[in-house]
Amino acid sequence: MALAHDSLGSERIKPGDEVITSPVTFPTSVFPIIQAGAIPVFIDVDETMCMSADLVEEAISDRTKAILPVHLLGHPCDMPKILKHGYPVVEDACESHGAECYSKKVGAWGKLGTFSLFAAHHITMGEGGMIVTNDDTIADLARSIRAFGRVIDVARDPYAAQELGTRWKELFPELGPFDIRQTYDKLGYGLKITDIQAAIGLEQLNKLDKFIEARRRNAEYLRKGLEEFNHLIRLPIEKDWAKHTYHHFAILVREDAPFTRLELVNYLEANGIETRPIEAGNMVDQPCMRGVRYRVVGNLRNSQLIRKNGFFIGCHPSLSKDDLDYVILTFENFFRGYR
Ligand SMILES: Cc1ncc(COP(=O)(O)O)c(C=O)c1O
Repeated sequence: MALAHDSLGSERIKPGDEVITSPVTFPTSVFPIIQAGAIPVFIDVDETMCMSADLVEEAISDRTKAILPVHLLGHPCDMPKILKHGYPVVEDACESHGAECYSKKVGAWGKLGTFSLFAAHHITMGEGGMIVTNDDTIADLARSIRAFGRVIDVARDPYAAQELGTRWKELFPELGPFDIRQTYDKLGYGLKITDIQAAIGLEQLNKLDKFIEARRRNAEYLRKGLEEFNHLIRLPIEKDWAKHTYHHFAILVREDAPFTRLELVNYLEANGIETRPIEAGNMVDQPCMRGVRYRVVGNLRNSQLIRKNGFFIGCHPSLSKDDLDYVILTFENFFRGYR
């Protein structure tokens, strides 16, 4: 995410700028905003758990510099409503590979999009992530900044160094006859992936569509098996304009349920079904935010409810019908006393 922000070049956020974003997210969509000295502006999420596009307008100020929608857990944000305000948009699609908004894939709407390739995601290289963009300048900047800030010709193509043109010498006359291969014109990071990771990633990419279909099938199976308990737990919502790719299967314990989230997740975990909170819950409650400058617009009632009552279970492509039946049965056993 940090690389994504820096790759915006002249449009990157600067100290004092505001970036409108979601409080229900993984922390590294918010940290780079703060690390740049800018101010995250949090608006509440809607029933999809993604930031409510209808609240963006209210959050805009004369310091607004960018909007950072987070496509959470496989559901896309409502991108036309976000883009209509005309600000640069960085899409955090880290959890939503292949998800679609009005039939267009996430990551393809904004200036750039980010995808995580950590082991828990739709496809993986073990660790790391990728940035997608249709903008050549952003792509060049990203290549350079991930490679220590090396001048672009070398970052893009190490062999370009063998054809030393004069352009870079004109750009950096103070270097004299110095070697382009050790010339750094930006403050970069060491974020290059290895060839082995790239090979794994490319092969995984070929399997992405198949994985997504399996995740969607698993989610539908869980939904059918659990829908009779809809009065106790709220199941994931998929808007009719959306294609949800179910990074996980998110559940919200209803406020009037006769048990707590903790009681339910403890029972599931004791029976071998792993759960996790919905990412960092509501970011503003995280200890790392103490003393940090941020702005909240309106109330964060839904985000707070997700923090208090939300959790997710897996719907990984490799889960078998027996696995899914066991998950459903375990929920049933827990709910038996609460029908
Ligand atoms: C919503 C979200 N944003 C960002 C990230 C990761 O960001 P980074 O590439 O900065 O580690 C993740 C990682 O899983 C994520 O789920």
